[in-house]
Amino acid sequence: MATQSRHKIAVFASGYGSNFEVITRAAQSGEIPADVVLMVCDKPSARVCSLADAMGVEKFVFSAKDYPTKSDYEREIVRRCRECGIELICLAGYMRIVGEELLNAYKGRIINIHPSLLPAFAGARAIEQAMEYGVKVYGATIHYVDETLDGGKIIAQQAIEYEGDNIEELTALIHAAEYKLYIKTLQKLLK
Ligand code: GAR
Repeated sequence: MATQSRHKIAVFASGYGSNFEVITRAAQSGEIPADVVLMVCDKPSARVCSLADAMGVEKFVFSAKDYPTKSDYEREIVRRCRECGIELICLAGYMRIVGEELLNAYKGRIINIHPSLLPAFAGARAIEQAMEYGVKVYGATIHYVDETLDGGKIIAQQAIEYEGDNIEELTALIHAAEYKLYIKTLQKLLK
């Protein structure tokens, strides 16, 4: 594969890291024309940190409380991203609202995945919120990131019909859909 056509991407995560894993595997196998060159995490004890080590991806792990303001830690994130030549930032379970520093530095180049058909059920516990509401069509959304919670122009969505009440079963279905949607979207965006 020609190296010039490969893009440098960063994945931001806060927890388990299954989307990070899927994106990194797709990059390593050549399924997407990109290299995951940086993983950014705001939770030092998160599983995604050891996963990055195991997968050979450089990481920047920080605690927001070690910085006076959001701008301060975001300035450091931007510095690291620039140092690595990052072109696109993929949020994958990064549980923080992105601030001005990052948005200005990477205008139109930050995307996020969310486990609902946005604009419905933004925020944490989206799958549980939707089930409590009694919806019959769930889904996943990939969108450009703006300064609001899970807000920004929608890029792609996948609907999932489910009428049961088993949250584990539904979560597994949504996660499986997320993985496919992220890879398909990255293939399109990076073309
Ligand atoms: C994913 O389901 C993602 O859509 C969600 O966090 C999960 C992370 O799982 N993101 C949000 O809720 C964003 N508001 P993972 O760490 O196993 O990839």
